Amino acid sequence: MASTRSEDTPPAATDGKGQLEEKAPVHDASTADHTVPAALQAKTKEDLAKVAQTLREDATEAMEEMRKRAARYRETPKEDTDDLTAQMEGLQVDSKMALYDKLFEAHPVAIGKAISKTERDETDQSGNSTLVYGEITFKTLALALHKVKTKYGLPGVGSSGPAGVLQEGSGGAFYDIGSGTGKPVFAAAILHPFHKAVGIEILEGLCATSWELLKAWDGGIRDRVGHGQEPTKVEFFLGDALDMNVCDWSDATVVFANSTCFDDTLMRRLASAATALKKGTIFITLTKRLPAAYFKVLEHDMFPMSWGSATVYISQKTTAPFGDPSAVEEDSSTSSQDGGGSVGGRKTTG
Ligand SMILES: C[S@@+](CC[C@H](N)C(=O)[O-])C[C@H]1O[C@@H](n2cnc3c(N)ncnc32)[C@H](O)[C@@H]1O
Repeated sequence: MASTRSEDTPPAATDGKGQLEEKAPVHDASTADHTVPAALQAKTKEDLAKVAQTLREDATEAMEEMRKRAARYRETPKEDTDDLTAQMEGLQVDSKMALYDKLFEAHPVAIGKAISKTERDETDQSGNSTLVYGEITFKTLALALHKVKTKYGLPGVGSSGPAGVLQEGSGGAFYDIGSGTGKPVFAAAILHPFHKAVGIEILEGLCATSWELLKAWDGGIRDRVGHGQEPTKVEFFLGDALDMNVCDWSDATVVFANSTCFDDTLMRRLASAATALKKGTIFITLTKRLPAAYFKVLEHDMFPMSWGSATVYISQKTTAPFGDPSAVEEDSSTSSQDGGGSVGGRKTTG
């Protein structure tokens, strides 16, 4: 009976002369069957040795290429080689984000938007674009703070001073100008052992929500943060963030403003108020840089937000408090709006 062999059947036994069966040499590209691994097509021990040698050479070549690539990667500054997604993935903040997600599980961005819209409609402020609601994502804020810690805030770098900014055990004060439901404030408290993290929000419904969330924070989340030192003191103030009677944020280490919808007037008031900040203070704004020559933009890049993406500006104050107020980029509209707002209330923890 004639023998048959399916494609995945191993080759027949040798006939004693090293010959398995008569076939074209394994390295003859014109006749080799490329669907079958070369080692299985080998008919002689010599063919097998050739296959093994080729595989060794291929592997050596691949290893060499990998080594060259790794060397190129090490020599090139990380910022130039990594795209934003890679930077985000490299953060390793998953357990911190899990705590944050737990705290806000019943407060997706839609809740903040709805509270904001209802209050704006009820108070005839629906045309006030500076009050439009949106949220920075946890990872975007995490990456911005990470950059401050590992790059711009290093001791002696830029205006960061000999102790640096956000360095190990340094604490510091975080402020969110227009804190909404409080997400960036809690995120900051989870991400870094700030001495305090403070939010100031002009809309009552949003501020009241952050006070509600403060209860959940105090009720267990705070103790799970585990920075290994005193828990961050978290506070929320109701009122105009530009009114220092509502909350004086001149002791800030990091100020954040989700300023995409802030108009030029508000940005200039913000820049004016920021003259009180100490040299080295980091100011993070979205879409618009702070219009003040005494803040140096350290970097600006597009990052994901709740509504899509926006440019994040990381700036640093280069002058001492009230060092050079004339450096504010002047505009006639700056004085057209008064301080507004009043102290409406305050909640703290820590
Ligand atoms: C885009 S939301 C950002 C919310 C939050 N910071 C975040 O990123 O998740 C901007 C917030 O700023 C508030 N806001 C606008 N002008 C303000 C002011 N002068 N003082 C305090 N809050 C203000 C708005 O009501 C709004 O809740």
